[in-house]
Amino acid sequence: MTENGRFTRDKVLTIDTMNPTIKKVDYAVRGPIVQRAVQIEKELREGVKKPFTEVIKANIGDAHAMGQQPITFFRQVLALCCYPELLNDNMFPEDAKNRARRILQACGGSSIGSYTASQGIDCVRQDVARYIERRDDGVTCNPDNIFLTTGASDGIVTILKLLVCGEGTTRTGVLIPIPQYPLYSAALAELAAVQVNYYLNEEKCWSLDLCELERSLEEARKYCNPKVLCVINPGNPTGQVQSRQCIEDVIRFAAKENLFLMADEVYQDNVYADGCQFHSFKKVLFELGPEYSNTVELVSFHSTSKCYMGECGFRGGYMEVINMDPEVKAQLSKLVSVRLCPPVPGQAILDLVVNPPQPGEPSYNTFIKERTATLSGLAEKAKMTEEILNTAPGIRCNPVQGAMYSFPNISLPEKAIKEAKALGQAPDMIYCMKLLEETGICLVPGSGFGQKEGTYHFRMTILPPRDKLKPFQYASQHVTANWPHIPALTN
Ligand SMILES: Cc1ncc(COP(=O)(O)O)c(C=O)c1O
Repeated sequence: MTENGRFTRDKVLTIDTMNPTIKKVDYAVRGPIVQRAVQIEKELREGVKKPFTEVIKANIGDAHAMGQQPITFFRQVLALCCYPELLNDNMFPEDAKNRARRILQACGGSSIGSYTASQGIDCVRQDVARYIERRDDGVTCNPDNIFLTTGASDGIVTILKLLVCGEGTTRTGVLIPIPQYPLYSAALAELAAVQVNYYLNEEKCWSLDLCELERSLEEARKYCNPKVLCVINPGNPTGQVQSRQCIEDVIRFAAKENLFLMADEVYQDNVYADGCQFHSFKKVLFELGPEYSNTVELVSFHSTSKCYMGECGFRGGYMEVINMDPEVKAQLSKLVSVRLCPPVPGQAILDLVVNPPQPGEPSYNTFIKERTATLSGLAEKAKMTEEILNTAPGIRCNPVQGAMYSFPNISLPEKAIKEAKALGQAPDMIYCMKLLEETGICLVPGSGFGQKEGTYHFRMTILPPRDKLKPFQYASQHVTANWPHIPALTN
């Protein structure tokens, strides 16, 4: 007891005593701009007058939040799984009911509320394996190599955990593309691994240069033990789709340099540009022949969150591990068992993604219609985003070949750069903050993803409805032109 009759004691957990690696974690996609956007929305609801009436959230790849409609069949099966009484209701098609029964039979006590095997429900893993075989033109897939995950994020972090070890110059280095999806830098910071940057080539539509990979690896060998190479294809935030040749080169490079490959393929159905096609790392690996397919260690990741599904809230996903040392695989099984199992509704949605309605089944036509409408809507918006951005003065945008983002280059006035630096802030952070305050458009500054020194960008999703993308070109011009004259925003 101390003065005023109040109990006090020093806190055990303070900013100085907490785990220092957590303090290094940064995740721009939900950073200060988004926090301010939430505040602005509240102010608008309270009647505060602004030069706009709503916040346009072009910051995050959350398709449903931006109006994308869920696939009816998926939601019907989920509804039936969650409330099996509905199996007696004739508003649901027979194929949805059959799917729900199959999933429920695989659950303990026939309830989606029970734990499942830690690696995921058996029949779902089998369906995933068959999906991969169809996708990869018959390259075989063993369901034992499939681990269901809590979104792709969980799988990526789990594999990184297995890989990181050593001290000082023997600490594990992980090569990641720059610009990158900040899950990677965040996970590496948390695990105290060494982040090794390789820069994508903006002049060549954000493609991956082998020379740059070599440079980055050689450099890293001076200060750490680089043993992992991460690739994101199609790319976030840069929207590029890798050519087959490039994937082949990357695999040969990984084989020669003894690197463990991680292929993030969550946007595998989001390919829009003419002449671009998704090639899985697994398929290319096997096409290179046994010298590669029997040796190169590869883990690839997929998710229910993107593509035409957008079911990110269900947290479904899987990873396929190839050529993993059996003893390590046993450790992986142990590690995932500590967290019991991925969310079962997410596993159920994943099952439907990898095994959708078939021709002749009652839900087939609607499924195809809905999937096609969503994907063609995204393709149209990818084109439109690129066109709008390229007509805005001072903005240069590469074609959005795939995924759900553009990552344009912005020319900022010298004065603006100086002003930002004097404030100790990234110039593109101030640009995005001004744009938000002036127009209600919420973006993520390029500095949150990494970019070449002296260049500035932002990431904008292609998800907002068409009419909401249009005002962008004038908004951007306004912000750049008026930069030095908006004192309230530079505070
Ligand atoms: C490249 C990439 N990988 C992984 C993820 C994580 O997705 P999930 O929702 O499956 O965890 C995202 C999400 O935006 C992403 O863009």
